[in-house]
Amino acid sequence: MKTLIIYASKTGTTEKCAKEINKKLKDSKIVNILNQNEDINHYDLIVIGTPIRMGMIDKKIRKFLIRNIELLKSKKHAFFICCGFNENWKNYYVQNIPKDLLDTAIIYDTFGGIIDIQKQKGFDKIITKIVSKKIDKNKEIKILSDNFDKFIKVLNY
Ligand SMILES: Cc1cc2nc3c(=O)[nH]c(=O)nc-3n(C[C@H](O)[C@H](O)[C@H](O)COP(=O)(O)O)c2cc1C
Repeated sequence: MKTLIIYASKTGTTEKCAKEINKKLKDSKIVNILNQNEDINHYDLIVIGTPIRMGMIDKKIRKFLIRNIELLKSKKHAFFICCGFNENWKNYYVQNIPKDLLDTAIIYDTFGGIIDIQKQKGFDKIITKIVSKKIDKNKEIKILSDNFDKFIKVLNY
């Protein structure tokens, strides 16, 4: 099954996860939506990865979903998100992904995230500083690599 992994990433977490999926999934191609174009018609399965910022998915990914909604519905599709506040992950899907795309996805999951203030610039840096003060220090923000295998298993099924 030919698979396209299409992702956006601002500070590298989603990219890292997309690369991990690419490594573990036979016959898959990985594409960064920021600088690559790919015709999804050539693929059987489309995997879409996006970070969450201010409760929202990446803008380019949102536009891609809207532009290709009918085509995506006609194909196997799956989603993963990277987010710092993992307890909200299901809400992020409900609030951002069209219901019929979400309902027909073979899997959608969270791979957690990383908040690294050193990698932020401008407005993001200010927000990160404010948010960092409010983060529960007992809650570890990290990539949930245990979720990769479950995800791959469903994709391969
Ligand atoms: C400005 C900013 C806003 C963020 N907003 C959210 C948010 O609303 N919810 C959340 O769970 N994580 C939030 N995060 C955490 C990111 O989702 C996390 O850093 C993720 O790993 C980023 O992925 P990327 O490195 O692929 O860009 C935010 C991070 C930044 C820097």
